[in-house]
Amino acid sequence: MKKATYHIEKDFKISEVDRRLYSSFIEHLGRAVYTGIYEKDHETADEQGFRRDVIELVKELNIALVRYPGGNFVSGYNWTDGIGPVENRPRRLDLAWRSIETNEIGIDEFVDWAKKANTQVMLAVNLGTGTPQEAGYLVEYCNHPSGTYWSDMRIKNGHKEPHGIKVWCLGNEMDGPWQICHLEAHEYGRKALETAKIMKWVDPTIELVACGSSSSNMPTFPEWDRIVLEHLYDHVDYISLHRYYQNYGDDVDFLASFVDMDMFIKTICATADYVKALKRSKKTMMLSFDEWNIWYQTNVKLKEWEIAPEILEDRYSLLDALAFSGLACILLNNADRVKIACLAQLVNVIAPILTQKGGGVIRQTIYYPFRDVSTYGRGIALKPVIKAPIIETKSYGEVPTICSAVTYDEESGFITVFALNIDSEPVEVNFDVRSFGKVELKEHIVLNGDDLDAINTFEDPYRVCPRKERVKEGMYDTFSIVLPKLSWNVIRMKVKC
Ligand code: AHR
Repeated sequence: MKKATYHIEKDFKISEVDRRLYSSFIEHLGRAVYTGIYEKDHETADEQGFRRDVIELVKELNIALVRYPGGNFVSGYNWTDGIGPVENRPRRLDLAWRSIETNEIGIDEFVDWAKKANTQVMLAVNLGTGTPQEAGYLVEYCNHPSGTYWSDMRIKNGHKEPHGIKVWCLGNEMDGPWQICHLEAHEYGRKALETAKIMKWVDPTIELVACGSSSSNMPTFPEWDRIVLEHLYDHVDYISLHRYYQNYGDDVDFLASFVDMDMFIKTICATADYVKALKRSKKTMMLSFDEWNIWYQTNVKLKEWEIAPEILEDRYSLLDALAFSGLACILLNNADRVKIACLAQLVNVIAPILTQKGGGVIRQTIYYPFRDVSTYGRGIALKPVIKAPIIETKSYGEVPTICSAVTYDEESGFITVFALNIDSEPVEVNFDVRSFGKVELKEHIVLNGDDLDAINTFEDPYRVCPRKERVKEGMYDTFSIVLPKLSWNVIRMKVKC
């Protein structure tokens, strides 16, 4: 059997894991909102029309923030369309996704939904058709206590307490020619700077995310990021990264997507650190990886001017879940710089949760690795020191067959190892945890299967789901565990007190 060694060293700390690494995203797109989180005639709908069955599955994911309302949608969105009496709200053409937006749900309802789902809102402002002043008014509407036009309007609309939205995105993917009112880097830098000033004058406690490159494939990457940061360095708290992966036919390359994500993060850190040096700044720029997932972008087919069209509803296979799990490990391994990461998206649209209009709800395959990291990836991220077999890939050359992350939660005393094995053979891993003394093996959760194309369906919702492997009883400072071929593993152990 193939072998690997794995040292877990207590003092090899990367960083405390920011809870917001487990965030997600809901856009007014397809059926994410309408017939996703909201369906007023559904049998599980609450008094506001939110689907309780969906809320339950969202809660299980322990999501810190949900980015809203876009995405490409936000660059044409007038937020005032979504406030006040629903019957007065306009129906609009959404030019980003060529749909009809009814505006039944707006910021006030979404904040209510987020509370019910035990999460918080990360709000994006429109820097496409929108102005700096409109962004400032939105901050006033959401966060100012009372006594001004917009804060009193919020109160009149039924929300006496401010929404208290802490994290704000300065637009979305403004580097992309597909974006409504796309800008060149220096144009965006100027507009975002003036917007940032106004927003922070309204509420100095908010944190701002500047638009970074919408993909490492963009021809403007990483110059876009450098120019934008040269304008905004002192005024923002994060630069964003977006990246989606898909299988172009070579499974091994696809499974090794984590290599690309790691390079992307490292390049943005280097770019931000260059600007830091240029500005003689003491501040280190943090990263918001506010869109990441597997997405079959080449399959996208839009429908013309429908309300809540069934679009971008990717069905995820076991193979997709495995590739996805490697990406989750990379976020943890960069926890010193990546403070926010949003799984894009959450319901129906490229999502871990899938609903049927008037019907049920299921967990897609990618639901499980996300739930694993968001539940157990707490405390301190430690640097995994692994010697694993090597595999040759077309896109990335030689790649280790094990992609892993490890966290130590001092409070509970649990060490959790997350490990993706992309080898087509099992690998026996010899763990060395001597820096912790002895540990008790608690559980080994495995996601794998014979059919890499298997998906979960409404007829067979648990076709792909994790199972528990037996673990050896007793206390150990070194021990071996076999990672099955092509598998995602969560190994949990408790440090002896
Ligand atoms: O998540 C789907 C889309 O992907 C978002 O609207 C956009 O920001 C990105 O291109």
